[in-house]
Amino acid sequence: MSSMSSMSTVPTVLITGCSSGFGLDAARLFLDRGWRVVATMRTPDLQLLPPSDRLRVLPLDLNDADSIQRCVAEAGPIDALVNNAGIGLLAPLEGISMALAREVFETNVLGTFAMIQAVLPGMRERGQGVIVNVTSSVTLKPLPLLSVYTGSKAAVNAFTESLALELAPFGIRAHVVLPGRAPSTRFGANARPRLEKSTHPAYADFTQRVFAAMSGSAGPVTEASDVSAAIWRAVTDPAAPMRLPAGADAVALSPQSE
Ligand SMILES: NC(=O)c1ccc[n+]([C@@H]2O[C@H](COP(=O)([O-])OP(=O)(O)OC[C@H]3O[C@@H](n4cnc5c(N)ncnc54)[C@H](OP(=O)(O)O)[C@@H]3O)[C@@H](O)[C@H]2O)c1
Repeated sequence: MSSMSSMSTVPTVLITGCSSGFGLDAARLFLDRGWRVVATMRTPDLQLLPPSDRLRVLPLDLNDADSIQRCVAEAGPIDALVNNAGIGLLAPLEGISMALAREVFETNVLGTFAMIQAVLPGMRERGQGVIVNVTSSVTLKPLPLLSVYTGSKAAVNAFTESLALELAPFGIRAHVVLPGRAPSTRFGANARPRLEKSTHPAYADFTQRVFAAMSGSAGPVTEASDVSAAIWRAVTDPAAPMRLPAGADAVALSPQSE
């Protein structure tokens, strides 16, 4: 925590999407390392994280502007915001309704913008802060049936790079963490209802082949702990790169892999 010495005595991180996966793991890591954690969830569940006087579990739905305002007001001063919550969609573009495409962009892109807008006045006044946006290694190597999802994550990558330039004069950093494929989270199961609504007969055989290739793939994968470690580095290391791949598969794809 030494690199955060200019921040509050016990700094606070707000993490979105803590009900499972990377968000839950990151909340545990920051708690373990002495931070105050505001763990946000659409449906708060106090049993998911160890009891701590440094932990607050607050409701947050990124698709509800009032929910965002209430959550950030209740959270108080935030030193680091981790925009982790997101939804997936694995389907051919022709099968995807505009309503579903909007849902993906509302959550993954506009939800991220809205969270940042909500915390920025406080960070700017205090002259410090870090924003970490969790995107995906699919933006490093294109994969089929992920056009809408990849578009949403690539938008956040480019958005973050521009935003970082306008926030630097205020002492605020912005980074992206790009996880690889992580079958151990609830991401695939949470995406399934959208996928089932997005089939298209012309792509049935192709879709089957892609699903078979994905389930049979034996290469390296990403663990939640890889993503938490990258988020931790982005937040606590002022020299962290703008983009941090997370997980062996993502690191192998990254032109910046070190
Ligand atoms: N797993 C992968 O293979 C993978 C790879 C690369 C990048 N990612 C990205 O990593 C992030 C975390 O994914 P994960 O693998 O940990 O998936 P996960 O287990 O499905 O977790 C996603 C979290 O986002 C929350 N969420 C979804 N919609 C929300 C909304 N409208 N408002 C607030 N919270 C919402 C979910 O809450 P509920 O429980 O309420 O649905 C859940 O807590 C996502 O941005 C994802 O795109 C995942």
